[in-house]
Amino acid sequence: MGFATDAIHVGQEPDPATGAIVAPIYQTSTYVQEELGKNKGYDYARTAHPNRRALERTVARLEGGKAAFVFTSGMAAIDSVFRLLRPGDHTIISEAVYGGVVRLTTQFLVQWGLEFSFVDTSSLEHLERAVKPNTKMIYVETPTNPTMRVTDIAGAAGIASKQGAWLVVDNTFLSPYLQSPVALGANIVVHSMTKYLNGHSDAVGGAAVLTRQEDAEKIYFLQRSAGAGLAPMDCFLVSRGIKTLAVRMKQHDANGMAIARYLEAHPKVQRVHYPGLPSHPHEIARRQQRGFGAMISFDVTTLKNARALLNHVRLCSLAESLGGVETLISHPATMTHASVPPEVRQRIGITDGLVRISVGIEDAEDLIADLEHALSKI
Ligand SMILES: Cc1ncc(COP(=O)(O)O)c(C=O)c1O
Repeated sequence: MGFATDAIHVGQEPDPATGAIVAPIYQTSTYVQEELGKNKGYDYARTAHPNRRALERTVARLEGGKAAFVFTSGMAAIDSVFRLLRPGDHTIISEAVYGGVVRLTTQFLVQWGLEFSFVDTSSLEHLERAVKPNTKMIYVETPTNPTMRVTDIAGAAGIASKQGAWLVVDNTFLSPYLQSPVALGANIVVHSMTKYLNGHSDAVGGAAVLTRQEDAEKIYFLQRSAGAGLAPMDCFLVSRGIKTLAVRMKQHDANGMAIARYLEAHPKVQRVHYPGLPSHPHEIARRQQRGFGAMISFDVTTLKNARALLNHVRLCSLAESLGGVETLISHPATMTHASVPPEVRQRIGITDGLVRISVGIEDAEDLIADLEHALSKI
């Protein structure tokens, strides 16, 4: 079936007990056994529950994986993937990755004997040069947050497979509607489902999608043992959100291009990072993506200018997060990437004047009018 059909029907079959077209929220912690050792497939909600199983089937199908496991946040899903490593293993991570990944790896996971290098993975030469004999994982975010650098997934997969390492791709920014990392050779895909998969800014969740049976077994073991599996209500919300992923992403993609073009032509904007613009390196994006999405960052030169803009938007909301139907605008240097050291921020292009926008699905002309008003305050 096509993507939109799968998004609506896989894992979303009518409830066998009642025929309800929408599966009920199984808000229960335990399941009664018919007799000792005999149950109906569920015993305790930390281990598994129907809403989680349903969502996991949908996500696995949309990403083309063997299995998916959903967690209480994107970071919990990412943490579970890093736990596939053993002490002494080395991981290469895209240098402009989401700040939470920098925090988790450099301030916590290093304590367990894991080694991490942050590399500009948009250059395959840099990536290949960073490989060491103990490299066991390459962790790529593409496009990167917030400077929208694109990594060649198939190229990175070639390097990973030569080394016998996992290639993990964070597909949060584009969603499976616009990019299919597994088809390009990734072994594992992770998501902050808080973003486009849910799409309505009303739940936090994450997913790890696996392509190998042995990895799937380990992640499931971890999910049920450590207990960070997503709760029924949140699974229900994300499952509902996914049903409209295809139509939402079409509109996000169209609005993203309209706003990027508008910003690029504006005299108070120094630079726009958006892989859909000819001014941004975009050959690889054109090859491996089915669209450019709705994440844009742009430079208004100084913190003072950024502040003036951010304090005068009315329709766009000044907030962290992204991927919802409503447009969110933020300041990476002091918000999402505040934990990245200033010299690293400078090197990877997160300047004090950089503003990030997650373009929603409102009418593009209303968003442009709002930005026009706010930019006039600079
Ligand atoms: C690209 C990306 N990956 C992962 C995460 C972490 O997800 P969560 O906030 O759901 O833990 C985020 C959060 O903003 C993100 O932007």
